[in-house]
Amino acid sequence: MMHILGIETSCDETGIAVYSGGKGLLAHRVYSQVKLHAEYGGVVPELASRDHVRKTLPLIRSVLSEAGLRGADIDGVAYTRGPGLVGALLVGAAIGRALAWAWQVPSVGVHHMEGHLLAPLLEEQVPEFPFVALLVSGGHTQLVGVEGVGRYQLLGESLDDAAGEAFDKTAKLMGLPYPGGPELAKLAENGDPKRFKFPRPMTDRPGLDFSFSGLKTFALNTLKQALTEELDVEAVRRLKADIARSFEDAVVDTLIIKCRRAVHETGYKRLILAGGVSANRRLRERIKAVMEQEGGHAYYPRPALCTDNGAMIAYAGWQRLKAGQSEPMQFGVRPRWPMEELPAL
Ligand code: KG4
Ligand code: ZN
Repeated sequence: MMHILGIETSCDETGIAVYSGGKGLLAHRVYSQVKLHAEYGGVVPELASRDHVRKTLPLIRSVLSEAGLRGADIDGVAYTRGPGLVGALLVGAAIGRALAWAWQVPSVGVHHMEGHLLAPLLEEQVPEFPFVALLVSGGHTQLVGVEGVGRYQLLGESLDDAAGEAFDKTAKLMGLPYPGGPELAKLAENGDPKRFKFPRPMTDRPGLDFSFSGLKTFALNTLKQALTEELDVEAVRRLKADIARSFEDAVVDTLIIKCRRAVHETGYKRLILAGGVSANRRLRERIKAVMEQEGGHAYYPRPALCTDNGAMIAYAGWQRLKAGQSEPMQFGVRPRWPMEELPAL
């Protein structure tokens, strides 16, 4: 039985996990740097790297002990090679590669988005290949046709902001604390969906690409316009909730329209959602209903495995290591790394 240690340090979360080829996920923990970056309103790369240096080894120790394992029980190490912040990536890569050397086991550098893409396979209901994947994170929005591990065809992507980035920027301009996406979604819960009508960008023309930067501007203009009137505290609170709701509906609707199109074009009956934004409740509910209408099925990971985590890296690494892939002593990271460059298994 193969035990793989997974290390994720591409951005502002230190994620560590152990995946067992026979027993599945044995333990996983995520340390979030949210508090560290909150006062700056966004991720400060240098501070992120320094915090990964402090947190990675202690977190590995506690995950190993939770799994009831020692270093000698680990058969391979997987770490995130990219895409991400270069300094942050280097911490996980250096620690992962060095541990593999010390333990005399192979290591592999995993593509962060492949990690997200394979995360639904960690759940009980495993989607069979082929499927369409909607990857929605803070840095990427992509529709991918997936025939197998490493067999990825990019069907469409965002030409400007990623969906998560649009959530974060819109939250910021409405004065919500970092990280804005989940805060905006919370605010939207009590919003009136009918008060404002937001556009559904790029849905009136063919193709599977996205553009989300206009929605943030639309939200800003809507807010400014409404604030030209004198409003009391309660009215401002309601205004922001209503904008949040219309913004969320616009993003979700736009994603759904393109997902449905991708399902028609590929003829695939399964669709998986992955990446931080796939933790969004409304998106999960809508995509499930739409795939049922299409006579197919939607899959997504539990919310803790939607956002950045070590489990998805351990799992993707296990897939590649068991296929015999590994790397030499010399290692490197790839801050930019197109997923189509990955070798098929
Ligand atoms: O995958 P992830 O954890 O990190 C990246 O690889 O970027 O995704 C983080 C993104 C952030 O933009 C965050 O605001 C967004 O996912 N996010 C959400 C929700 N939870 C996280 N966006 C909307 N609704 C949510 N519930
Ligand atoms: Zn991510």
